[in-house]
Amino acid sequence: MAEEIIRNTAKGEVTMRLWRGDETGGEFAEYVMPAQEGEVVLDVIHRVQATEAPDLACRWNCKAGKCGSCSAEINGRPALMCMTRMDTLPPGEAVTVAPMRTFPILRDLVTDVSYNYEVAKRIPPFHPREKTDDEEEAGGYRMQQIDVERSQEFRKCIECYLCQDVCHVIRDHEENKTAFAGPRFFARSAELEMHPLDVNDRRELLQKEQGLGKCNITKCCTEVCPEHIKITDNAIIPLKERVVDASYDPVAWLGRKILKRRKSTPAEAEADAPSTGPAAVQPEGGVHGIPAPEHADDALVGAWATDAGPGGDAPAEDAPAE
Ligand code: SF4
Ligand code: SF4
Ligand code: FES
Repeated sequence: MAEEIIRNTAKGEVTMRLWRGDETGGEFAEYVMPAQEGEVVLDVIHRVQATEAPDLACRWNCKAGKCGSCSAEINGRPALMCMTRMDTLPPGEAVTVAPMRTFPILRDLVTDVSYNYEVAKRIPPFHPREKTDDEEEAGGYRMQQIDVERSQEFRKCIECYLCQDVCHVIRDHEENKTAFAGPRFFARSAELEMHPLDVNDRRELLQKEQGLGKCNITKCCTEVCPEHIKITDNAIIPLKERVVDASYDPVAWLGRKILKRRKSTPAEAEADAPSTGPAAVQPEGGVHGIPAPEHADDALVGAWATDAGPGGDAPAEDAPAE
């Protein structure tokens, strides 16, 4: 119904508050656009570009929730612009769109997400075990379907980095970026660690260099994932358990000895990596001083906009070590 999409005024208009600026600073600019039925936020931004601000920078590709390019903070919540329907936002209020705060701003709604690529380089890649004689004869590996499915969920990731954006360990702590891989890469490590053929062992790396212990399981990353990957429950918690098993559990150690389920040592795994990559040093302006959005009072934003998780009192530095 036409009435349902009239968002701001009886005139059928919608007010967009869009961040305009670069690494030196900026401010929100308001654009009043006609409201149209069935639109997503990205549609309206394209209309702003077409009619009022042709120099507005905005990254997108597929407009189908699959390329992970159009990540932003809509009314203070990390979300894909192409998958956020205008009719799901509070009627009668301006729609605020800001760039992801965790990454350095390039211009307007576009951020520099290269931190993520540097982290990715430091994860030892997939390295399959040798084939058994039976498998050689059959010409391929044999795996149980249940083992394949365990890591399959993580392959849905579109690398939008919304989970990285929301994670308080790096969102408000630029200094943690050199020692914390972040939820997207815990999911990637889980995908590889749970793969039934992989023999690389990333557990020591996760514990000592990628800051797995800094995650205090607030689940904010899971809440914003557009692919509904259960990052915390299915990746991070099992990884924490595996790290504890590797470091402290004598029964698990004995079981591995008896079953001869050996993985590569961390040094061997590192040697297999294509590159250790440089430290994830950020340019100036990682937190680019954008004021809190008007809608920053919902429960999720309340959790990740501060140092504390939903539990309310566990800043990153105090997260329990494994
Ligand atoms: S559960 Fe919380 S602390 Fe852990 S990676 Fe996700 S957002 Fe970060
Ligand atoms: S895990 Fe989900 S939120 Fe994180 S980068 Fe992948 S798709 Fe995006
Ligand atoms: S444009 Fe591809 S995910 Fe939004």
